[in-house]
Amino acid sequence: MAITQKLIEQTRRFVEEELSGDSSGHDWWHIFRVWKIAVRLGEEENVDLEIVQLGALLHDIGDWKFHNGDESAGPRRVREFLERRQADESTVSQVCDIVSTISFKGAGVATPMQTLEGQVVQDADRLDAIGAMGIARAFAYGGAKDRLIYHPDEPPVMHQSFDAYKKSKGHTINHFHEKLLLLKDRMNTDSGKRLALERHRFMETFLKQFDEEWNGRA
Ligand code: ADP
Ligand code: NI
Repeated sequence: MAITQKLIEQTRRFVEEELSGDSSGHDWWHIFRVWKIAVRLGEEENVDLEIVQLGALLHDIGDWKFHNGDESAGPRRVREFLERRQADESTVSQVCDIVSTISFKGAGVATPMQTLEGQVVQDADRLDAIGAMGIARAFAYGGAKDRLIYHPDEPPVMHQSFDAYKKSKGHTINHFHEKLLLLKDRMNTDSGKRLALERHRFMETFLKQFDEEWNGRA
């Protein structure tokens, strides 16, 4: 087996084991979907598919959401993992760069991605946050974090800093307005944009029906 293929396989096994017990929408199957979408988008762009695959597989390892908001935990663990498997420094630093800059940080905070490989992984992660899959994950996350489905007296907040976004404990319908509905305009690649638009429309249909049912019109 080529070295690259072996490292990807080792990474897959490591991540599957690490995230198998998660019930907040960040389980292994989220990573699996992001991995597959990333390869699909990557094949349409001129990218290094090894970096894309490692970035996609490792992107949620040590996410700040599961380390009391610590943003440096993720890249640190990823570096450790890759170095122990003798990955070269260029691979390690490119993957760590993706892992440390991928996350959404609030409606008013820009999250630019330097490399095309990173842009592909970010698009794939964002596609899995919207559409039918995104709806399922948002409510799974809300449940895991003891959040309400909806509260009519609590309007969405457009967070202007990562810190404010991190501290937010709002209900899950707000999360659509504070993040999920904004993602289609933040996609990097053309193929990502196209897929995002379809998924976006599906969320709009869902929210409209939710509103009708909440207000006793349906
Ligand atoms: P990111 O790193 O950009 O936040 P993730 O892969 O970690 O992306 O996935 C984040 C997903 O977790 C969201 O798309 C959403 O489904 C869920 N999530 C995060 N915060 C909330 C929240 N406050 N309410 C509901 N769901 C949330
Ligand atoms: Ni993710």
